[in-house]
Parts: sequence; C-alpha cells; structure tokens
Amino acid sequence: MGAAKTIRAATDGRNCQRTNTMPSTIIKNGTIVTADLTYKADIRIEDGVIAEIGAGLSGETELDASGCYVMPGGIDPHVHLEMPFMGTYSSDDFESGTRAALAGGTTMVVDFCLPNPEQSLLEALQRWDNKSTRAHCDYSFHMAITWWGEQVFNEMEQVVRDKGINTFKHFMAYKGALMVQDDEMYASFQRCAELGAMPLVHAENGDVVADLSAKLLAAGNNGPEAHAYSRPPQVEGEATNRAIMIADMAGVPLYVVHTSCEQSHEAIRRARQNGMRVFGEPLIQHLTLDESEYFDKDWDHAARRVMSPPFRNKAHQDSLWAGLQSGSLQVVATDHCAFTTEQKRNGIDDFTKIPNGTGGLEDRMPMLWTYGVATGRLTMNEFVAVTSTNIAKILNVYPKKGAILVGADADIVVWDPEKKKTISAKSQQSAIDYNVFEGKTVKGLPRYTLTRGRVAVDDGAIQPEEGWGQFVKREPFGAVNKALSTWKELTAPRKVERSGIPASGV
Ligand code: URP
Ligand code: ZN
Ligand code: ZN
Ligand code: ZN
Repeated sequence: MGAAKTIRAATDGRNCQRTNTMPSTIIKNGTIVTADLTYKADIRIEDGVIAEIGAGLSGETELDASGCYVMPGGIDPHVHLEMPFMGTYSSDDFESGTRAALAGGTTMVVDFCLPNPEQSLLEALQRWDNKSTRAHCDYSFHMAITWWGEQVFNEMEQVVRDKGINTFKHFMAYKGALMVQDDEMYASFQRCAELGAMPLVHAENGDVVADLSAKLLAAGNNGPEAHAYSRPPQVEGEATNRAIMIADMAGVPLYVVHTSCEQSHEAIRRARQNGMRVFGEPLIQHLTLDESEYFDKDWDHAARRVMSPPFRNKAHQDSLWAGLQSGSLQVVATDHCAFTTEQKRNGIDDFTKIPNGTGGLEDRMPMLWTYGVATGRLTMNEFVAVTSTNIAKILNVYPKKGAILVGADADIVVWDPEKKKTISAKSQQSAIDYNVFEGKTVKGLPRYTLTRGRVAVDDGAIQPEEGWGQFVKREPFGAVNKALSTWKELTAPRKVERSGIPASGV
C-alpha cells in the first residue's frame, strides 16, 4: 500500500486529553504494521498519544524508522512480578520486569493480584499497588479468586466497579495452595457474568497432579523430569474442557492461560466451533522449547525450566502454531515468573518443591518474530494481533492500547527486522542468573520502544524511567460479554404458560 493516510481511532474521548505540554515526536520513514494493515506513513506523537498519521510529517524530535516496521507495543497479559509462591518470591519485580519488557518491545504487562486465604481482595490489591510503583511501563492487574465466601462475592463488585479490573483468575491446580474447587469456580464464574467480567483459568486437574506427584516421589522419581511426568497433557485437557463447560453454564466468556498442548487446544477449538466465547493463550516458551529440556543431565538446566504446564513435544508445539495461524488461539504471552538457580535448588531432593516458573518477558517478541514471522508461520499482521491487538480487545482496552490510531496511547515499537542478537543471561535485563533461551540467535529487535510517547529504548540502548508506568483501568461489559449476556437472556429457561391443566391429584 503506497499512499500515506490518516486513520482515526473511534475513541470515546477518554484517550484524547492532549495538553501539548510535551514537544511532539515524529516517527519517520517507517512502515506501519497493524493487525490488519501494512502501509508507509509517519506518526506524530503529542503528549503521549498518537496525534497524526500521514506523509512527510516533521517535528522537534524525529526518530528514523527507515527499514523498520512501526507496530503497537507488545502487551503481555500474563506476568508474575515479585510473586509470593512456593515459599519464596519470584525474582523479577516491577522494576526489573518492566525494564525487561521494554527492552523486548513490550509496553504493557498484566500481573496477578493474589489474596491470601481469607484475605480481603481490596487489601491484597493495596499490596499490589505498593509493589508496582517502580514500573517503567503501563500495567494492569487480574484479580485471583484464591478462596470463596460472601466477602469475596461482595468485593468482586468493588474490584470491577471501583478498581478497574475486569478479569478474575482461577487456579485449578496447586492443591492446598491456590487451587479452587468446581463449586467455587462455578459461583465465581456466575458472579463474573453478572459484573461483566471475564474469568481466567490455569487449567490443570490439581487432584490428579497431586496424586501422580506423590506416586512418582514414592517410586524414587524426585528429579525435575518427574515434574513433566506429573502433569501430562490429559490433566490439562480435562481441566480446560471442565472450565469451558462451567463457563458455558454460567453464561460467561473464558480465557485459558498458558495453553500448552493439543488436548487443551482441542477443547478450546471445539468450544469455539460450537459458538462458545473461549480464548487460548500459548506461551512463547511452549512454542519454542520442548520436553527434552527436562532430561538434560544437568539438574540446574532442567530445574530452571520447571514450570506448569511443562514443556511438551513437537506435536503439541505444531498444534499451538496451527492455533495461532487459524485463529483458534489468540494471544502469545510469557507467564514471566523468574526464579534464580538458588531458588530452584529448594527442590534439589524433591521436584515438587522446585519453584514453578520461567522468564521470557524480554524475549517474547524477538523469539516470536524469529520463529514465527521469519519462518513464514505467521504474517506480520498476525504477529501484531497475537502480541498486542487481540489481548487489548479481550481486556477491553482497545484502542487505547494495541493500536496505531489517532487518539491511541503512543505505546509503539519501531521494529528493525535486520537487528540481531544472541540471547544471553549476561546481557539481559532480568534479575536472574540464566535465560531459558540462552544461545538462541534472534533476528528482529526494537530500534525504539516508546511508552506513552517516551523513548525507553533508543537504538537498542535502554533508558527506562522508574515510576513512569501507570495503572490501566479496564471497564467491564466488553463486546463479548455483552453479546453473550444478550444471547443467554434470549435463551434462558422460560416457564410455558398452559391452559386446561388437569387438576392435581385427579
Ligand atoms: O509455572 C508457572 N506457570 N508459574 C507461575 C504461576 C502459574 O501457574 O501461572
Ligand atoms: Zn498458571
Ligand atoms: Zn544447560
Ligand atoms: Zn501464571
């Protein structure tokens, strides 16, 4: 597409508060790539938002995007920064985590607020607010339902209405810790439906995992490879299907985090074909790393890769790629939850004590470009869709986020498809001492990353600003919730009014 054009976002006004206090920045000579268009144009940014898209723009600060693709900054909807988990805390906090995000072209992250058992959701949120003050890029929270009761039921409304959170996470695994039971999940899903919110699930059958883990340990299988044996694809497929059916009965859309295998993907695919509103999120780790990592002779190597669900074989990886290609899976995330080697060694004699989680925030976009776009598995537009635009729509923050449109936040990555590096823990932003992608060469990296117009990556050099990141409020009753509640209302059970009913007892 040759001619430059100006495309305007149909915003509701909340994104357009420009005061012209910041000098304008022009991104020049690049090719804009969005989820549905590729075209040459310049972008003018004023006071943190996109003010104009067109040909031959000029301004006080100009960023040269020659040879680059200008795309919406990445959104990673699944991160755990400074997460209290398995007796420790994940080692990347909002400072190092969001710095890593920007280095890799990601401009917004969504973390999970985890109330302790019996703890108020609002009190837990206060803790997450305190943790996130050092963020370098914008962020939001999902609220986890870790226990159930009248207080949780009531507070869910305040979380949605007052706190700007429209997603609730349910762990079907981690028995004795974060796991919820089916009756709790069903009650919470119904509450989500009433409030116009969307439930998320970590879909693994926690009872079966606990039993398999105990049997493996009893048989002397205590190494990291047993982690993979304890969580076969069946436990994920069964839980995914169960969550989908419960969501359908509750009349609510569903988002399945870290979809790692064909069994889970198949359940999502089938549900979608039957008209259910279900979304699936593969991780960059599951797409590019396989189960052979757990059989490495080096304990540290294998333990560093312990996460749930575990890495799978090539057939599962092919299924996930096909899902992204066909649209049955919509989002690529990281589940960034980084533990140091020392933390992993908590499980040296017992794989169930290895903290579950891996990093990936800095590498998601370059790895997906290298293994997705450069291989021809994904188009550039599909890349934008699965790293940014689709999740912005699902979370109901589009087009403030996930868009190159006038009025959108200037969260932008200027992507240089020729820029190369070999991933190494030595040069990463993450606070941990290794990288699960160590040694992989990626081609396609940010030349510039802009967060609300501020240049945080300049020609590859990181210049973040602590505390720049703002909390992104998300409204309930997104388009899918509205459509589904209309349909459910229309098809709700209705009493048949009859005349001439025989008298009872006759
Ligand atoms: O192993 C993982 N995925 N750790 C982080 C917590 C979770 O389950 O998402
Ligand atoms: Zn999980
Ligand atoms: Zn190794
Ligand atoms: Zn997670």
